[in-house]
Order: sequence, then C-alpha cells, then structure tokens
Amino acid sequence: MMESLTIFLLFFRALCSMLTSSIAVDTLSPNQLIRDGDTIFSSGGMFELGFFSPGNSNNRYLGIWYKNVSNGTVVWVANRDTPLNTASGLLRVSSNGILRLVSIGNNTNSTIWSSSFSSSSNGTNSVAQLLDNGNLVIREGNRIIWQSYDYPGDTYLPGMKVGKDLITGVDRKWTSWNSLDDPSPGRYVLWMDTNGFPQIFVNRSLVLHTRFGPWNGVRFSGMPSLTTNPTAVNEFVINEKEIYYMIKADSAVVSRIHLNPEGDLTRMNWVNSTQSWLTILVTAPSDSCSPYGICGPYGTCNTRNFPICSCLEGFVPKRPEEWNAGAWSSGCVPRTPLDCGNGNENGFKRLSGVKLPDTRSSWYDSSTNIGECETECRSNCSCTAYADLDIRNGGSGCLLWFDELVDIREYNETQVLYIRMARSELTSKHPLF
Ligand SMILES: *[C@@H]1O[C@H](CO)[C@@H](O)[C@H](O)[C@H]1NC(C)=O
Ligand SMILES: *[C@@H]1O[C@H](CO)[C@@H](O)[C@H](O)[C@H]1NC(C)=O
Ligand SMILES: *[C@@H]1O[C@H](CO)[C@@H](O)[C@H](O)[C@H]1NC(C)=O
Ligand SMILES: *[C@@H]1O[C@H](CO)[C@@H](O)[C@H](O)[C@H]1NC(C)=O
Ligand SMILES: *[C@@H]1O[C@H](CO)[C@@H](O)[C@H](O)[C@H]1NC(C)=O
Ligand SMILES: *[C@@H]1O[C@H](CO)[C@@H](O)[C@H](O)[C@H]1NC(C)=O
Ligand SMILES: *[C@@H]1O[C@H](CO)[C@@H](O)[C@H](O)[C@H]1NC(C)=O
Ligand SMILES: *[C@@H]1O[C@H](CO)[C@@H](O)[C@H](O)[C@H]1NC(C)=O
Ligand SMILES: *[C@@H]1O[C@H](CO)[C@@H](O)[C@H](O)[C@H]1NC(C)=O
Repeated sequence: MMESLTIFLLFFRALCSMLTSSIAVDTLSPNQLIRDGDTIFSSGGMFELGFFSPGNSNNRYLGIWYKNVSNGTVVWVANRDTPLNTASGLLRVSSNGILRLVSIGNNTNSTIWSSSFSSSSNGTNSVAQLLDNGNLVIREGNRIIWQSYDYPGDTYLPGMKVGKDLITGVDRKWTSWNSLDDPSPGRYVLWMDTNGFPQIFVNRSLVLHTRFGPWNGVRFSGMPSLTTNPTAVNEFVINEKEIYYMIKADSAVVSRIHLNPEGDLTRMNWVNSTQSWLTILVTAPSDSCSPYGICGPYGTCNTRNFPICSCLEGFVPKRPEEWNAGAWSSGCVPRTPLDCGNGNENGFKRLSGVKLPDTRSSWYDSSTNIGECETECRSNCSCTAYADLDIRNGGSGCLLWFDELVDIREYNETQVLYIRMARSELTSKHPLF
C-alpha cells in the first residue's frame, strides 16, 4: 500500500516536472500540454512557440518567435483578439486535430482561441508540429490538416503563399498589429485581388491604399524588389487550384517581410555580425505617388515632378480648374474623343517606363503574342490598352484592359503599354499647355 503510494507520488512528480519545464521537442501530441512558461521549438532551433507579452503590455499571447536570432522577434500570434490577462493559458491538441488555447479558471476552463481545419480530419491521432520555417502545422500522419501559414499575422516568412486556395477557400491576408504593444488587427491589410489579372494590394481601413503589380514574369510592375538576395527565387502561380505569389526560402539568409502598424512594408534581413535587422523599405507613406490612383484615370505620377500628377500624352484634365488646384482624382480624358466606327479611326500609343495600370478589369491569355493581342484589343471598342503578359524571352502572352487606366506612375520598367487613342493624336503634334 505504502509502496504503491510512493510510486504514485514519484510518478506524479515526474508528470509535474514534465508539465512545467520546456518540452524539448517540436511536436505536441494529444497527451501533452503547453502552459504559460513552457515552450516547444523547431528541430533546427530556428523558431520557438509559447506564451509572451508584446512591448509594454502585460497581456499574454500564444505566439511563434525566432529562437536563435533577434532576441525573439515574434512572427505569428494565435489569440490576437483575445489576450489573456493572467498566466492561465494552456494549449493542447485534440486527437481529431484541433488546437485549443484554454484559459484555466478556478471553476471553469474557457476556450479563448482554436484552430479551424481546412480539410477534414478522419479522427485518428493528430499532432501539432512547429517546423523550422516557422510554420505551425497539425498533421494526421503525413497529411497536413491545418497550418499557421494559412492564417498569417503581420509577418511574411519565405515559403508562405500570398493569395488564394481555390479548393479550400483559404485566402491568405496579412494584417498589421494595432501597435507594438497590441497584436490585435490594425488598419493595414495586405492581400491578393484575383479579379482580372491578379495583383497585390495594401488596404488601409478597408480602402485601397497601395497597389503592387501586375506580375510581369519577373516581379510586380513598379514595385521595388521584395528580394534583396539575387539568388532568391520568386514563384507566381495561377491554375485551377490556386493563385499565389511566393518567395522561396533561402537558407543563406534569415529574412522576413513586415507590415508595421503604420502600414510600411519592410523587408528585413538578419545580420549576424551586427546582431540586428537590416531594413529595406518596400513601400512608404512618404512616397507621394504610392497612394492608389492619386492622379485619377489616365493620369500619371512622378515624385520628381511638381506637381506630381500629369495627364498621359494625348489626354487632358477632365476638370481643368480642379486639376490645376491640385485635386487630381477626376483625372484626364482623351483630347480627341474616341470614335469606334470600323476600328481604323483608332491606333495605339506606345508608353514605356511606367508601372502598368490597375488590372482588376483586365483579361489575359498566356498562349498568344503581342500581335494577336493588338488585333484582339482593336476589335473591341471597350478595350483601352494592351501589353505583353510576361516580359521574359522578348515578351509573350496578352494582357487587355477594359476600363479607364488607373494608378499609373513613372517607373524604371521596360514593359511596354499600348494605349488606345484617336489616330489623329498619333500623328499630329499638339502644343503643350
Ligand atoms: C539559427 O538556426 C538555424 C537553424 O538551425 C541556423 O541555420 C542558423 O545559422 C542559426 N543562426 C544563428 C545566428 O545562430
Ligand atoms: C481563483 O482563486 C484564487 C484563490 O482563491 C483567487 O485569488 C483568484 O482570484 C481566483 N481567480 C478567478 C479567476 O476567480
Ligand atoms: C481545466 O483544465 C485543467 C487542465 O486540463 C484540468 O486539470 C481541470 O480539471 C479543468 N477544470 C475544469 C473546471 O474543467
Ligand atoms: C487517417 O488518415 C491517416 C493519414 O492520412 C491515415 O494514415 C489513416 O490510415 C487514416 N485512418 C482512417 C481510420 O481512415
Ligand atoms: C480592400 O478594399 C477594397 C475597396 O474598398 C474592398 O473591396 C476589399 O474587400 C478590401 N479588402 C480587404 C482584404 O480588406
Ligand atoms: C554569429 O556571430 C557570433 C559572434 O557575434 C558567432 O559566434 C557565431 O558563430 C555567428 N553565427 C553564425 C551562424 O555565423
Ligand atoms: C538584444 O538584447 C540585448 C540585451 O538586452 C541588447 O543589448 C541588444 O541590443 C538586443 N538586440 C536587438 C537586436 O534588439
Ligand atoms: C468587349 O469586351 C467586353 C469585356 O470583356 C465584353 O463584355 C464585350 O462583350 C466585348 N464586346 C465585343 C463586341 O466583343
Ligand atoms: C533602370 O533599370 C536598368 C536595368 O534594370 C538599370 O540598368 C538602370 O540603371 C536603371 N535606371 C535608373 C535611373 O534607375
């Protein structure tokens, strides 16, 4: 009797120490718990999962951070909206594959965050695993039934996909924190719009703020490169299952892309010799041409000009008085109105060195060439412009615009945009005014 009690007590103490110390594995099984103070880390030692308090806050959040660099910069937070105000958090995975963050109370335990699953579990033993790329996955055997990469926060890590899974409906969007002390969703959202030819936007308080794109086979037109390492490989995929953009992981450099509470998008590379992040600004509010459509339809923006907006050649301000006062949103109209009789009244003006206009009302075909593209555009009077879809190997494919051309800015790009214009505009010279 005494002996069995001793064994029980020894067992109980072993169990307690197992529950309170750091679990030295990357996996959480249904019979294990993570309490506040416990962590698990990825097999290579790159990332760690546990509870933390951001900035000057005392709230407790479940998150993932770098383990061996950068003093633990946080890359993902589970309970962004539902912080714990005590160290009462406990994480477990159920055998049917749902992660639950529970707050332990004196009389009740309440679930404050849980994972959903995008593909259904068959009810066998599932485990949660923190991978060395920072992805927290729930696996059933080798099948991944949920992953944190599908529910991003404010940080893009190489290997994550920006865009949509058309089968499961997962739409991966990045949302800034409210402040450095508060990871709840802030004002800025980075997302992919799949209307027309896909593009990436940043919204500010549900309004379009900045547009990147369209993808030209090498990069997003008019966007500073997201990769600073020339060997980093980008992938842009459109098929019937998914539409996404991805920067492939590169073991030579620890890097992340961060959408901060002020809406700046920065790429950061860890520099071991200085023990700090090297920051490269991708977008900034201080760039006066970055607000979406600042110069209105058929306007073009150049930060080095004063004023920054002008009309495209062959176009004149729609409301000259407003325009001259610096209110550019009504944009420009063709100087010679388009007449679409038999199509021969119109031609196309070649424009290069610009970020291509918004493609939300565009149409594209990767199997044709620029000649067929012109014919296609000429034959439909609502077609306003066309371009190569892909600039590689001398250009291929066809991109057609069917609306006013919006959000053009002068930029060091070689991709050529052909804009529909009255034939008389292409030959005669008009004085500047
Ligand atoms: C951190 O860990 C990763 C993965 O093991 C390794 O590749 C990297 O060199 C480490 N970085 C530092 C600064 O120790
Ligand atoms: C739980 O009980 C302890 C000790 O009685 C008390 O200090 C604490 O406030 C209680 N917590 C809650 C959430 O009621
Ligand atoms: C809350 O969860 C803990 C840990 O699993 C358990 O020991 C305790 O009995 C639970 N409390 C209630 C009220 O269900
Ligand atoms: C459940 O799925 C796992 C992984 O796909 C598989 O190994 C296992 O045999 C399945 N179990 C049942 C009961 O279908
Ligand atoms: C971004 O803003 C546009 C325009 O208001 C809206 O249609 C879209 O749903 C917003 N997207 C997100 C992810 O907030
Ligand atoms: C990082 O720098 C430290 C010294 O500052 C050095 O000891 C360590 O080996 C370096 N790690 C890597 C991965 O280069
Ligand atoms: C990391 O923490 C140490 C000690 O608190 C501090 O001296 C150092 O500046 C920190 N480094 C970074 C990159 O924040
Ligand atoms: C021109 O293109 C628009 C947009 O794709 C389409 O709705 C319309 O039917 C086309 N018109 C002709 C005459 O093909
Ligand atoms: C424009 O880009 C080309 C090739 O990418 C480069 O050689 C050139 O220096 C750039 N010019 C400016 C003004 O940035």
